[in-house]
Amino acid sequence: MSETLKAVILYDSLSKIGSTETAINAIGTKLAEEGVYVEKAKCRANADYSFVRDFDIVLLGAPVYYFVVASQLLGALVSGNLKKNLKRKKLALFLICGSPETMAAVLYLPQLKLNLIGNRILSEKIFSPAMISSEDAIEDFVFDVLEEYRNAMKSRIKMQWTDEALEMLQGLPPFMHGGIRGLVEDYAEEHGYKTITAELMDIARSDQGK
Ligand SMILES: Cc1cc2nc3c(=O)[nH]c(=O)nc-3n(C[C@H](O)[C@H](O)[C@H](O)COP(=O)(O)O)c2cc1C
Repeated sequence: MSETLKAVILYDSLSKIGSTETAINAIGTKLAEEGVYVEKAKCRANADYSFVRDFDIVLLGAPVYYFVVASQLLGALVSGNLKKNLKRKKLALFLICGSPETMAAVLYLPQLKLNLIGNRILSEKIFSPAMISSEDAIEDFVFDVLEEYRNAMKSRIKMQWTDEALEMLQGLPPFMHGGIRGLVEDYAEEHGYKTITAELMDIARSDQGK
């Protein structure tokens, strides 16, 4: 049986129930309909983001206010520990803003992407507030994220696991298996290993903390 994919949507907005909240609820609902386990968390710049390591896909979404991506999400990346905890994570980005898409792609998206060099960005999308109510726009984005995730997993080299390494994995709580397996395999692929050993699991774990 395949393990359930886990996604978390990290977002920020100054509005209580504005277009960002509407967008993330629609994106979350669509992901859940596709069988993904989804959580959402509103960002505080100085929060502890170590929990994101348990997720296979991290979606980052925010509106733009006065030419700047909403400050708590940007702050979490620039001065908080979010960037460190996103190491080797597969990401999707979305912005909600009033500017034309071309302008937003040049002015606003780089504010996030400059802090995410080295991450695999599965998909990125700029929504206008009007697009939020379009089921098609939300669905296209979600399908794109999931397709790119599957492509990324398919292109991965098939890793061998030693019995000892598998035992270590089985010793962890079941909800962590998918996330830890993904992190260790990403580390192995990046460093040219084809077999996951118990020792490699320790190395990958200590590297993750840096
Ligand atoms: C005070 C304010 C400033 C804004 N500044 C910008 C801006 O500089 N560039 C832009 O493209 N959109 C700007 N917008 C549009 C917002 O990004 C857009 O309305 C977004 O959907 C707001 O999200 P929210 O409903 O979650 O607050 C601004 C909106 C407000 C209310």
